Amino acid sequence: MPTQTHEIAPAQRMENVRYAIRDMAVLADGLTKQGHKILPLHVGDPLSFDFVTPPHMIEAVSKAMRDGKNGYAPSHGISEAIEAIRGEAARKSIQNAQSIFVTQGVGEAVDLCLTVLLNPGENVLTPRPDYPLYSAVLAKLDIPLNLYDLNEDDAWQPDIEDIKKKITPKTRGIVLINPNNPTGALYSRAMLESIADLARKHNLIVFADEIYDKLILDPGEKHVAFASVAPDVPCITFGGISKNYLAPGWRIGWGIATGESAAIESYVEAVHKLLRSRLSASQPMQWAIKPALDGPQDHLPGVLAKMRSRRDLTVEWCKSTPRVSCVSPLGAFYAFPRLDIPEGDDVFCKELLIQKHVLTVHGSGFGQRPGTNHFRIVFLPKEEILSKAYASIAEFMQERFK
Ligand SMILES: Cc1ncc(COP(=O)(O)O)c(C=O)c1O
Repeated sequence: MPTQTHEIAPAQRMENVRYAIRDMAVLADGLTKQGHKILPLHVGDPLSFDFVTPPHMIEAVSKAMRDGKNGYAPSHGISEAIEAIRGEAARKSIQNAQSIFVTQGVGEAVDLCLTVLLNPGENVLTPRPDYPLYSAVLAKLDIPLNLYDLNEDDAWQPDIEDIKKKITPKTRGIVLINPNNPTGALYSRAMLESIADLARKHNLIVFADEIYDKLILDPGEKHVAFASVAPDVPCITFGGISKNYLAPGWRIGWGIATGESAAIESYVEAVHKLLRSRLSASQPMQWAIKPALDGPQDHLPGVLAKMRSRRDLTVEWCKSTPRVSCVSPLGAFYAFPRLDIPEGDDVFCKELLIQKHVLTVHGSGFGQRPGTNHFRIVFLPKEEILSKAYASIAEFMQERFK
């Protein structure tokens, strides 16, 4: 038999898929293989650090398995989970859920919802800097990016004037990530109201990614759900158990559709059509949703105390280090410090990794205003690891930018 040597070329649209976090991790793997110990400030997975999934959720999943709940679930999710999500939505003043569906993580919900919305030539506004899932899904759909700026000078709130400029007749929706990855920003009610006004004026659907909504770091701050501020505006609120409930490997997320039913009905029907075509999210894992949302929340104070202390350490370091400045994160577990350096942040982060074995992700990997440099820090590691990493970064900068 002749050997098949013709190259199998990937589709051209793959050129637009970038995932800087994984790319840096590949470089780090090489260093680990050479025997170096990497200080990981890049991975947004609490389970890689000293955080554990609440035991009653683990028990609920293993019970479901023992009870034979191992088949496909209904394509939109088991009713016990959907009712628990409805209850949670109501607690967040989202009263008019038209439809709730459970997915394999928020990742699948985002993929599905963007796929159902967009025709060739249309676009959806996504933030810059962004969480790369959105640009990857849009690349897959062959949809060009339409980025709006988050404004560092305004505590990383969306830049409303920029959004206004970017809306075209082909713009169908807008993505809001709140609390935000990678900036840690929390959006004000007034900001959400301004976005709702624009959505009404231009018939946009809002994708409110609120996966970090219980990880609010200051007791005085409160997360406001977009759908509670604008119940009439077509909106899909994304939530899940990966972050708030420390179970990212279980791959469970959901979408809550709100808005006037006349406006959202046919879109929601199409979402369900696509949900049916992929069968269901993992059934045993769905049995953790009700215990998570309705059960004890006593993991949260400890989780928040750790995150707060690590955030404070991070912000203090930024304040005391030349060439570094940072808007203090109010939610989630990311900081996005600005770097005043004479080189690109991609070079900076690569060299930092190679020379000091500290793994962060360059701002350009998330998109940023031209002419600015940043890097993203995940401040989940314990204080002693963070301190060590920050000392190494300061030393690296001193040596590099004398
Ligand atoms: C803003 C945002 N949305 C969605 C996700 C993915 O969530 P899931 O684990 O539910 O797929 C992440 C993960 O880091 C995220 O930061």
